[in-house]
Amino acid sequence: MTQEKAVSAVTGGGSGIGYSICKALTTLKHTVIVLDRDIEAAKRTADEINQEGGVAKAMQLDVSKHQEVIDVFAQIKNQFKRVDVLVNNAGIGSVGNLDQTSEDELDRVYNVNVKGVYNCAFAAIPYMQEQQSGVIVNMASIASTVGIADRFAYSMSKGAVLTMTYSIAKDYINQGIRCNCVAPGRVHTPFVDAYLEKNYPENKTEMFETLSKSQPIGRMGTPQEIAALVKYLCSDDASFITGSNFPIDGGFVTLNN
Ligand SMILES: NC(=O)c1ccc[n+]([C@@H]2O[C@H](COP(=O)([O-])OP(=O)(O)OC[C@H]3O[C@@H](n4cnc5c(N)ncnc54)[C@H](O)[C@@H]3O)[C@@H](O)[C@H]2O)c1
Repeated sequence: MTQEKAVSAVTGGGSGIGYSICKALTTLKHTVIVLDRDIEAAKRTADEINQEGGVAKAMQLDVSKHQEVIDVFAQIKNQFKRVDVLVNNAGIGSVGNLDQTSEDELDRVYNVNVKGVYNCAFAAIPYMQEQQSGVIVNMASIASTVGIADRFAYSMSKGAVLTMTYSIAKDYINQGIRCNCVAPGRVHTPFVDAYLEKNYPENKTEMFETLSKSQPIGRMGTPQEIAALVKYLCSDDASFITGSNFPIDGGFVTLNN
């Protein structure tokens, strides 16, 4: 891949970590396709990049819709001729242990966090095979590898993101496609703010502190810190890296004991 001509698609690029990933890929001079089910949010990201001299296009996409995903990636290929990078970042949260998780809730989380990753990779991989090159970075979580209390459906989904990463990396290694995932601890984004607003409306500040301190490093991560790692994995500097999971969690997984 010639980095300067690369076309990158980022799901959930309208907010939080995805927004920062779009901005970071722009610094590699990639053309960035900002995909989000919230088209206004995607447009804000793309407009900002274009105003700053980068190249970006916003497209509406619900990653859970199989045919819609195929159609949108076909449009990207048609218009930009390539699909070099796919960042499967779009995801939703879910609070509750198993007996509090309804069938509908399990399906809702599965459809976005698991099937969404499958759908986008399913749509993008044929173009990467054609090019004999491509990079996929999936957004896993600390929940992929360690039990997090009261996050049954979310943990299920992020465990699947980790194992889909290994499977994709193995199956396409001989076709020039690399696939890795990153596993953030808590990152201060609208995702966390919405969680606090919904579950702790009376004591948001206190809970924010508790969540911050659950990272041994004493704070939450920033979207920019996650984006810097994703940018590296998408770049040619990471050309020897595939089939790996990168914790980025202030020590949560290894030091919390
Ligand atoms: N914030 C954290 O603490 C944290 C920690 C670990 C992993 N993650 C993961 O990082 C990713 C991004 O999280 P964030 O905190 O930036 O969230 P966020 O809520 O700020 O942003 C998520 C974006 O994804 C979009 N989105 C949601 N469902 C979609 C769908 N079906 N199709 C297309 N777009 C959709 C939303 O519109 C939003 O713009 C998620 O996969 C999340 O699970 C977040």
